[in-house]
Amino acid sequence: MFHTALCAILGIKYPILQGALGGVASAELVAAVSEAGGLGVLASVYLKPKKLTEQIEKVRSLTARPFAVNLTPISSSFMEVAQVVAAAGVDIVTTGRGDPRLDVVGLLKRRGIKVLPVVPTVRHARRVEEEGADAVIASGYEAGGHVGRVATLPLIPQVVDAVRIPVVAAGGFFDGRGFLAALALGASGVQMGTRFLATAECMLPPRHKERILHAGEEETLVTKMLTGKPVRVLHTRAVEEWNAAEARGAGEAELRALKWQVRQRAWEQGELVHVVAGQAAGGVHDLPTVAEVIERIIAEAQDVAGGLARVAEVGAPTTAT
Ligand SMILES: Cc1cc2nc3c(=O)[nH]c(=O)nc-3n(C[C@H](O)[C@H](O)[C@H](O)COP(=O)(O)O)c2cc1C
Repeated sequence: MFHTALCAILGIKYPILQGALGGVASAELVAAVSEAGGLGVLASVYLKPKKLTEQIEKVRSLTARPFAVNLTPISSSFMEVAQVVAAAGVDIVTTGRGDPRLDVVGLLKRRGIKVLPVVPTVRHARRVEEEGADAVIASGYEAGGHVGRVATLPLIPQVVDAVRIPVVAAGGFFDGRGFLAALALGASGVQMGTRFLATAECMLPPRHKERILHAGEEETLVTKMLTGKPVRVLHTRAVEEWNAAEARGAGEAELRALKWQVRQRAWEQGELVHVVAGQAAGGVHDLPTVAEVIERIIAEAQDVAGGLARVAEVGAPTTAT
């Protein structure tokens, strides 16, 4: 059950991808996701080429199953990182927000690599399909990390209608109900980031994990403080102050100074500056292992699918008797 076209393309058991988690997804987390039947994704964003090669080798030492490396084609070192990934014999790459002038898909496809770009709109999805992408990850506004402007629910069916390649739904998924809903919208699987942050294998500091476990669904905001582009993070005093300064038209120098100031204060007073996470944080309340997350999602989706099948057969259940 749930063996979709995406599973066939990637050689995985369940159509569940662990979204790249720059700075926090270690080889152990990536391998654990792949071992549990999903696709682990190693983020390259903060790794120097030598370290990236080491991490790739480490994943291979922990699992023989497929995994991917994520590239963020924004930095000047993109070409170098792409060469490292190709030289290491990586079969699958996901790409994050990048410079549209780079022929990222073409470059990787010419090296025999399967490419799954993350896109925020139908227009981007069409473009990467034309460039030869093997599948596309459509990510909504509720996601942790970089965000576009369209929410997941309207985005997914529109992307599904616009392209022929499999679509992976990302942004806001954390349980079996969401997973099944994504399939109902025509997606071939889901990608989750926030849910995998709160797992035993993730190396996110315990204090950050605690914040996620106690966050409500309203406790995220979008800020340009981290990368200059909109990124969804948990609500913190530091980010709120920075956003307020930006909203009142503070100049670049003032914003830069404020960033240092809030970091300094956070360091002195033990505050958290930022925790990158999505609205799914409101639905994440425990710290299971990766295998437990994946097993639970599949079991819950099977239950819900069974319930829906019964409703379709005998009609919607009545509430009052
Ligand atoms: C802490 C964190 C770091 C992330 N780093 C990256 C990254 O390096 N590259 C990338 O393409 N996406 C990155 N993302 C986005 C995720 O891969 C994923 O698409 C997103 O988290 C899905 O939404 P969700 O958090 O609602 O599950 C990051 C997300 C988080 C929460």
